[in-house]
Amino acid sequence: MSTFDDYLGTFDADPGYLNWAAFGPVSPSVRAEVFADADLLGNGRPSSLALVGERIAQAQDVVADLLGVQAADVTLQPSSTHGLMHALYGITGAVVASTAEFPSVSLTLERAATASDRTVTPRWITPDDGRVTPDAVAAILDDDVVALAVSHVDFRTGYRADLAALRDVLGPDRLLIVDAVQSFGVIETDYTVADAVVGHGYKWLRAGRGTGFAWFSPQARERIAPVLSGITGTTASGLFVDELPAPAADARAYTVSMPDPLAAGRLAIGVRDVRDAGVAAIEERVAAQVDAVIETADRHGIAVASPRERSERAGIVALAPEDPARLAAALANAGLVVTARGGSIRVAPHAGTDAETLALLDETLGAFGKESFIVP
Ligand SMILES: Cc1ncc(COP(=O)(O)O)c(C=O)c1O
Repeated sequence: MSTFDDYLGTFDADPGYLNWAAFGPVSPSVRAEVFADADLLGNGRPSSLALVGERIAQAQDVVADLLGVQAADVTLQPSSTHGLMHALYGITGAVVASTAEFPSVSLTLERAATASDRTVTPRWITPDDGRVTPDAVAAILDDDVVALAVSHVDFRTGYRADLAALRDVLGPDRLLIVDAVQSFGVIETDYTVADAVVGHGYKWLRAGRGTGFAWFSPQARERIAPVLSGITGTTASGLFVDELPAPAADARAYTVSMPDPLAAGRLAIGVRDVRDAGVAAIEERVAAQVDAVIETADRHGIAVASPRERSERAGIVALAPEDPARLAAALANAGLVVTARGGSIRVAPHAGTDAETLALLDETLGAFGKESFIVP
């Protein structure tokens, strides 16, 4: 069996799980490792504590490897929102963002504006289809704009932004700040066209919460003041007392305190597993699963709001049924786990989603389509 087949074999959640864009059931290797690390933390031996402490550097290394960047520029964060806070609070100038972004981008930007007395100012865009395209960004650029903050893959529609094209529109000097929560580990792309990339391990990486990370390019570090810098982010190498050292020159400046080594261990294992399986192979399999979901919805006459082109999507399919509440209930009754929000039903398969789950979806959407005709 290939490493990729081994990886597929590790998906052991109950059939019916199609909610990877919300939470990824934790993988067996992450579960095993966290038990082992927790045992080590329980015996009090300095060597055991040091061993678990090594998880922090391991996580930085493997995240950097997958991003194609320097490990020293990668920070571990409690969440991706924490990473975005570090990125957005220290900017001077206007930052373009869509009002339809996940609030980790939009709310954080607004809070940064308030906290900085509007040294950072949001420049909101509301594209008709919610898609942050190069044209939508180009239309609002002027000399005051210093950055764009964007989700690589939109959490609602599943639209995948073209990072290279956004970089072209921004030019070399403006910052491109990317929320890669819905793409890291399942989409192969050149993240180095960005200046800051944040993500986390609790969805597609199957590593549980507390596993955020943020990468800051040298250009980002020049332009983003480390406003939220804490005790781990200084020029001092150890504990300091009776002095107040300056923020570190490297990416540590964008950290507050010591990361949780158990979370770092989970992140390290989650990222290692996708790296070993191969992100390109995972992307290909996720695309095929999404093809199957779209084909099923089409066959049963349920509208699909997500992009159909593989290059414009990742693992999210937004269905727009005529009666979303009734479809949500039908899916839940069938044991299918999805996200139902407003008029949309978000279906998110992963590479290891099994045929049984897709067949159950087919059956449920089919029965739903027929039921629609039984009007009393
Ligand atoms: C695009 C996007 N960004 C950020 C988040 C929140 O991430 P965190 O919980 O790590 O702050 C989510 C969660 O669903 C998301 O979908």
